[in-house]
Amino acid sequence: MKKIVILFSGQGSNLLNLIDQLHMRHCEVVAAITNRPDAPGIEKAGQQGIHVDIIDHTHFTSREAFDGELVRQINAYKPDLVVMAGFMRILTPVFTQSVKAINLHPSLLPLFKGAKAIERSFESDKADGGVSVHWVSQELDGGAVIDQRSFTRSEDETLESFTLKIRKIEHTLLPETIITLLSSDK
Ligand code: GRF
Repeated sequence: MKKIVILFSGQGSNLLNLIDQLHMRHCEVVAAITNRPDAPGIEKAGQQGIHVDIIDHTHFTSREAFDGELVRQINAYKPDLVVMAGFMRILTPVFTQSVKAINLHPSLLPLFKGAKAIERSFESDKADGGVSVHWVSQELDGGAVIDQRSFTRSEDETLESFTLKIRKIEHTLLPETIITLLSSDK
């Protein structure tokens, strides 16, 4: 069975969803890694029997030093693929040049790269919102898009309903993309 490592920083709803949909069915979630010791996802993943490593980025003097430790811990698990699901870190070449990773981003890339993508797409004049999964490269949210899914906003859309639609798409698009990638072994 193929192995994945999941990186996250916060609530971990995508992490939990991946554990639920994929673990020991389509692949093995060998570990999750977070940069935030207070991430609510830590306890939830633990309850599902997934080991979580904490690498507190505030303990490192440079991005490269943090990335070096992250790469070291990832490599110890020998994963076939690394999945960034709500992992809020800008990565350096120390990471991007040695780890095969995909990232989940809550917009139709190349639109709205970076932080607050949901808010910025909601506030834009675009009729559609959506979600992208892309390869991680040196450019923030700029690697090749693997898959995207969109929706057309309704007339009475609020930021809350817009966000919920994005969450729902994330929870199908990301696991489907992982299954496809692992089975085609790209
Ligand atoms: C998701 O919207 C993801 O696209 C973004 O951060 C959010 C993570 O949420 N990059 P969660 O931690 O999976 O609940």
